[in-house]
Amino acid sequence: MEGYRQKQRLHQCVVSLLRVLFVLLCCCRRSAAGSGNEQDGDRVRFLPGQPRSPPVSQFSGYVTVNQRNGRALFYWFFEAQSSPAQKPLLLWLNGGPGCSSVGYGAASELGPLRVTRQGAGLEFNKFAWNKEANLLFLESPVGVGFSYTNTSSDLTKLDDTFVAEDAYNFLVNWFKRFPQYKDREFYISGESYAGHYVPQLAELVYDKNKDKTKTYINLKGFMVGNPLTDDYYDSKGLAEYAWSHAVVSDEVYERIKKVCNFKFSNWTDECDKAMSIVFEQYHEIDIYNIYAPRCNLAQSAVAPSFDQALATNDQEHFRRRIRMFSGYDACYSSYAEKYFNRADVQRAFHANLMGALPRKWEVCSDSILRSYNFSVLSLLPIYSKLIKAGLRVWLYSGDADGRVPVIGSRYCVEALGLPIKTQWQPWYLNKQVAGRFVEYQGMTMVTIRGAGHLVPLNKPDEGLALIDTFLLGKQLPTRR
Ligand SMILES: *[C@@H]1O[C@H](CO)[C@@H](O)[C@H](O)[C@H]1NC(C)=O
Ligand SMILES: *[C@@H]1O[C@H](CO)[C@@H](O)[C@H](O)[C@H]1NC(C)=O
Ligand SMILES: *[C@@H]1O[C@H](CO)[C@@H](O)[C@H](O)[C@H]1NC(C)=O
Repeated sequence: MEGYRQKQRLHQCVVSLLRVLFVLLCCCRRSAAGSGNEQDGDRVRFLPGQPRSPPVSQFSGYVTVNQRNGRALFYWFFEAQSSPAQKPLLLWLNGGPGCSSVGYGAASELGPLRVTRQGAGLEFNKFAWNKEANLLFLESPVGVGFSYTNTSSDLTKLDDTFVAEDAYNFLVNWFKRFPQYKDREFYISGESYAGHYVPQLAELVYDKNKDKTKTYINLKGFMVGNPLTDDYYDSKGLAEYAWSHAVVSDEVYERIKKVCNFKFSNWTDECDKAMSIVFEQYHEIDIYNIYAPRCNLAQSAVAPSFDQALATNDQEHFRRRIRMFSGYDACYSSYAEKYFNRADVQRAFHANLMGALPRKWEVCSDSILRSYNFSVLSLLPIYSKLIKAGLRVWLYSGDADGRVPVIGSRYCVEALGLPIKTQWQPWYLNKQVAGRFVEYQGMTMVTIRGAGHLVPLNKPDEGLALIDTFLLGKQLPTRR
């Protein structure tokens, strides 16, 4: 009996000791590799319908950007296909405002896994930009895609400043989870309304980097595609492009020139009327890719009804058309919406945890677009500042886009007044003219011939050549 008791006491003692040891071990592990554990938790093993090969190293999840209000942004990250430890980090943002970088950038444009037709699964994209970079997609701002806030009034406060600050906080916290990228060369890119987000985020990173108490982010440059940049030049460019590409008559164009002064962001009723003729014509085709077939699926009925809701105010109407309700495969949105709303996909993706999202996942959010406060009219001062700071700055333009046309972008770049380094000239790919480019002291502008608003989708080969050349800081090929 006594022997048994002693044995039992010894046993308890050993168990307690083991427990203490275990707890100690756990604590040590957590403090040493906390980020590693969190990072592991975000690893995506396999997405439903994903091809078995090649392997794709991917992560996704939420990063809290504001603790008090409970705001969290959703990201999807792909390691570079080879030597990720040697490649830079590239962030991609889509515009709208309200469009998802997961739905557009990652799953239909430049990510390695694209949603297949009918949304049944995913296919490998051999022109994916993670050939040359570790590639990060962010659903921004809150209210877009899987990103959310627990304080619904946040959604009424969205403007460029709000978006930039949340995106900055995202980066700081993402680097805590992925410390191996913290000192890596970092670039930001995006298209359309991200023409606002990208330079503003770059500026915020640049400014915060001066504060030694803040996380240093090794920002080297940014590149924007068909970017909204300056209200005046972009509006003027839109009208000129419609006329010069035979979308509207000489009379309409003469009328616009007479009654519209785009220097005022508030258009007169007469200007509204003249411009609405342009938009009516663009309703007939795809404004984002004027030579491509238009999407005729019933699904695209979303766009007209939305347009009608704003028809009373054409200028408001005009501004909010920035959103992309179509692309090259104009019916694409419906495939992505089918795929990303699947419960098994969301589970594998660490998205919509506990099914708490108060809405369906959408490629673009109408309510964000409607409530967004467009308070910044020109990004050109930020360009000047960041060019002076020595960042690498590139602007590219698919020259078949009617919404943010190449003409307006040329006006914007010319307005910066930079000295020319090499003249406007063709660049080549596969023995063809892929587009043209011009190099200034501090900035490069590139066109992609025959691409619309979504260059990586319309011209994937050219898109990949472009990002490679940008990241390497080289010149585009000037010979066949
Ligand atoms: C939002 O609220 C839910 C439910 O209380 C909570 O689980 C979640 O962590 C909150 N999100 C953030 C970012 O704080
Ligand atoms: C537009 O706004 C400016 C400045 O607020 C004002 O001076 C001008 O009269 C307005 N123009 C129209 C057409 O409403
Ligand atoms: C939009 O932003 C501007 C500039 O920050 C501000 O003055 C204005 O009050 C805002 N409008 C709304 C409706 O929040």
